[in-house]
Formats: sequence, C-alpha cells, structure tokens
Amino acid sequence: MCGIVGYIGPKNSVPILLEGLQRLEYRGYDSAGIALIADHKLVVHKKAGKVAELVRMVNGNGHGLTAHLGIGHTRWATHGEPNDLNAHPHWDCHKEIAIIHNGIIENYVTLRTKLVLDGHIIRTKTDTEILVHLIEEMYKRANDLFTAVRLALLEVEGAYGILVVSTKEPDRIIAARKGSPLLIGIGERENLVASDAAAVVDHTRQVVYLEDGEVACITANSYVTKTIHDKEIIKEVEEITFDLQQIEKGGFEHFMLKEIHEQPESIRNSLRGRLLMPEGVVKLGGLEPVLDKLYSAERIIIMACGTSWHAGLAGKFMLEQLARIPVEVDYASEFRYRNPVIKPNDVAIVISQSGETADTQAALREAKSKGAVVIGVVNVVGSTIARGTDAGVYIHAGPEIGVASTKAFTSQIAVLSLITLLLARHRGLAEEQCRLLAADLMSLPDKVEKVLGESDHIKYLAGEFKHVQNFLYLGRGSNFPTALEGALKLKEISYIHAEGYPAAEMKHGPIALIDENMPVVFIVPKDAIYEKVLSNMQEVRARRGKIIAVANEDDHEIDQLADHVIRVPRTYSYFGPIVNSIPLQLLAYYMAVARGCNVDQPRNLAKSVTVE
Ligand code: M6R
Repeated sequence: MCGIVGYIGPKNSVPILLEGLQRLEYRGYDSAGIALIADHKLVVHKKAGKVAELVRMVNGNGHGLTAHLGIGHTRWATHGEPNDLNAHPHWDCHKEIAIIHNGIIENYVTLRTKLVLDGHIIRTKTDTEILVHLIEEMYKRANDLFTAVRLALLEVEGAYGILVVSTKEPDRIIAARKGSPLLIGIGERENLVASDAAAVVDHTRQVVYLEDGEVACITANSYVTKTIHDKEIIKEVEEITFDLQQIEKGGFEHFMLKEIHEQPESIRNSLRGRLLMPEGVVKLGGLEPVLDKLYSAERIIIMACGTSWHAGLAGKFMLEQLARIPVEVDYASEFRYRNPVIKPNDVAIVISQSGETADTQAALREAKSKGAVVIGVVNVVGSTIARGTDAGVYIHAGPEIGVASTKAFTSQIAVLSLITLLLARHRGLAEEQCRLLAADLMSLPDKVEKVLGESDHIKYLAGEFKHVQNFLYLGRGSNFPTALEGALKLKEISYIHAEGYPAAEMKHGPIALIDENMPVVFIVPKDAIYEKVLSNMQEVRARRGKIIAVANEDDHEIDQLADHVIRVPRTYSYFGPIVNSIPLQLLAYYMAVARGCNVDQPRNLAKSVTVE
C-alpha cells in the first residue's frame, strides 16, 4: 500500500528519493515524506497530499537540500488520518532515529502503554511511531542500529516493511520485512532499497528480494542480510525484467488509458510461446513441478480479491465447461476464516496482479497448511505470492501502474484459458476442438484491437451518461464476471454507484431500481443464452430503463431493444470476458475523465493492498 524508497551513495539522495516516490505514488497517495541524514543531523520533510506537494515543499525551501543518505515514503493511511503530523517518516524522542513503514503493527496499543510508562513522548496516533520508540529503547541496550531493529521486531506483532536510519550511524540504512515487500537495488558504490522495483530501475537492474523475517544492513558498498533471529543469510541477486519506458505514460493522458490500449500486446505476451499452433498444444514450463497433481486433481479452488477474483470466476466457467473439473472461487479475504475443507486431491490457484495482496497471501498460506498444492497466476515477477506458491504461470502483462486493473485482468483470463486447455486436453477434450479453441485464443489480440476502435463512440456515451448516480451491469454465463468487472471499474474511478448481476437475477430484486434514470449495461453476445438475455432487456425496456448493449457486430436484432450499442467481434463464450470487458474499461475511463476524477489515483484506493 505505502511506497518506500531509500538511497545511500555518493550522489545527492534528494532527487533520487523524490523521483522514486513519484514512481511509487500509485501504491498510496495521501501523504509523503523524506528523512535525510546530513552533517549528523536528521532532516525531515513531510506533507499531506500528493508527492507533488512534498516536491514543491522541498524545492521551495530554497536551501538546496543535499544528503548522501535518505529514506522516503508515500502513505496510504491505516492508523491516524492523513495529515502532516501522521505522514512518515516518524522519529524517536531525540530526533536521532527515523523510520518509514508499510504495514500494520497490531500490538501497538500494548507497546505504546509500556513506552509511555518508560517516559517516551509519543506525538502521533500512528502505529509506526511506536516502532521507532521501541527501536530507540533497544538501541540503549545494543548500541548498534542493526541489532536494535532486530530486537525491536522480536516484540512486534503484525506486518511491516521498514527502513530505519540514525544520526549515530550515518553510513547505513536498516531494512526489514514481514508481509510487506522490500528489495535492495545494487548499484556501483551506491545502493537503493524500495518496496517496488519501479523506484530503483532507473539506477540498477540488479536486485535482492528480502523475504519475511529478514533484516538487512545496507551501506553504499555492501549489504548484509540476516534473519530476525540473527542468522546470516546469503541472498541471490536477481535481474529486473521490465524497462523504464514500461512504467511511463508514453504519450497517453493516463496510465489507465495506456494500459487499456496495451492489451492487444499484453494478451499476446501472455500467450507467447505457450500455445503451440496449429495443434493447440499448451506448454506451461512453470507448472511442470505440479503437473501430476494438476492432472489428478478432483477439484480446483481459486482464491483472489477484486478484479483478480472476477478473473477467477471467468476461469471457473471455462475450467468446468471444457476440462469438466469442479471449481470453487473464493474471496481470498474470507477463505482462511471459514476453516475451509481441503481434500488431498485439491489444487488451489491464487490469482494476483501485484503478487503482494495480504488477503491472498493469507489464503495461500491457509491452503498450503491444509495440504493443497498451490499454483500462482501472478503478474509481478519475484513478488511474495509468486515466490510462495508451489508452481505458477506469470501473466506477463507488464507493469500495471493505474490503480484500476485492466490489462492484468485480460491477461489473467488468457493464462487461465491456457491452464484450461492444458487440462481439457489431458481429460479428453477432442483434438479438433482444442485446435479451434486455440485458434480463437490466438485471434483475441486482433479482436481487442478492433474494440479499441470503438473508443470515440464510448467517449460520446460517457458524455451522455456522466451525470447519472447509478448504473447496473448485467450478463450471463461467462459474462456475469464481465458485468461484475464493468461495475467495479466504474465505481472505482468515477465514484458512480454500480452493481453487476447475472441478468436473470434482476427480476429477483434489482428490477425495483429500474426507471428512466437507470442506465443498464447488458453484455449480450450471440451465445447459447442470447435469447434469454433479450428477454431481460425487454423487462428493462418495459420500465423505461436506458439500455447500453455490448453486442456482436452481426447482431441487428439488438438495435430494436437497446438505446445504444457497442459492437464487439464474436468469440467463443469461454474467452468472451477478454473481448467484452474492453468497452467497459473504456466506458469507466471516459466517465471518470468526464466527471473530472483522478483516474490513475482514485480516492481511498491503492494499487496493492498489503494490509488485511
Ligand atoms: O494485486 P491483486 O490482483 O491481488 O489485487 C486485488 C485487488 O485489490 C485489485 O484487483 C483491486 O480490486 C483493483 N483496484 C481493481 O481494479
């Protein structure tokens, strides 16, 4: 949720930190701050609002700030409202030690009471400030920052990614993680540390990922990693797999629009080298270690949150229809709290764009602890979830910066389609049918490209509907998840209340909402239940609801029923959500722009939700 970056080396850390924070801002954007150690003094600047406010403040103070060591933070508030005081960094009683933190210290009330009794002056309502006072206390015993941080963390319950600096040891940054990502960026005579590779890729491509329970001491020329229990560990250096240009807007007004338009390419990348044509044979190297388990699975349990959960629902539809295997789709956040029944031949799939979602991590742990083999469908290479699974398939959608997930959704479904074909073939789906499905899959990037050509029409529709208060999205079969996803996109970025429903469920309640002010988006491709959805449209029309239909290019019947039609190419219904969600992403985008909303950083949200 929060973004973290630190620098130590010969350069001035200030512009490096500010630039890093701008790249991390999609992780949290309610306040930001930096702490520098210069001339053995701790200098802190922090401000509520966007990173731009902090940049204005730092650049505007006219002192030409310089420091070779610094840490920076962009916040998504958990404890304490987002104001200047609660912004990170926080410091100890003597302003010698500073900390930035991503996560939640769960036992902070107990720790706070003890620290106050010991004479510490606590200034804020944050859980983070408690931790820096605890480190101060431990420093009195250890007289060494690395050890003091370790000892403090032994007393802490909760999740953290932290950076700590001290005027007493101005040549080092201490980093530690449990449940919140951190990596060290290894440069030449300089090192960086960040919550996300986006903040370091400008400076180095060599990184070391910290694991849960690990602590690092980072100087300009070296780094030492230990477990929290003081056991030294040697870490593998890995390479960042994306380029700087992939995390820039590239001429688009917003990241979200860029990412919507990248989908022909991102879907191609998800399929590339994995679908051997013309036979339609699927090769997924990442699944090799668990292939036997997958082939003999009696049930698949998919766990995910938000948009990734919607992709899971689309996966259920195709896995059950084509591979004839029962599939359950669980909200990751609920999974561990209902003592789920896991049988020996169950296989779990966790889906996550970021690979860092706390609820999904917890579901993954729960499934593993109950003996399931767990497969990851993840975008961010090297992320916690990707490394925690038994096997997995990266979706290769490339960095997704817009908080509203778009290209990750379609790539998640593309990868689930591959897993489906792999299993379906093994479980006896006819070769000819596999060939046809594979050909359709390969045609998806071109079909998506075609839908993107509808942008101007969709922009016009957004202008027509921008003042409405509510929207209903209806679809059936594989397009029920499409409806859910369309509604989620709209509410996330335009703040219009929207609901997704299976079309036939409308008459069991939501129909009460229909009047001339209620726009209803129907996803109505010419599939096996097309006629049934037309009946639902009649029901809306009879009540003077406004109908926007996402329908096939060759469907002329629809013009009689819908007020507006967005045309999409035909595709097999299994893969329908990939093509049919594109106009809904565009509609949400243009509605948000028309309403003057901050598309890439919608209020109250953050890109990766690393708290429970
Ligand atoms: O990174 P993840 O896929 O695990 O994230 C799950 C959800 O938090 C995410 O999809 C969220 O719903 C997005 N804001 C959707 O646009």
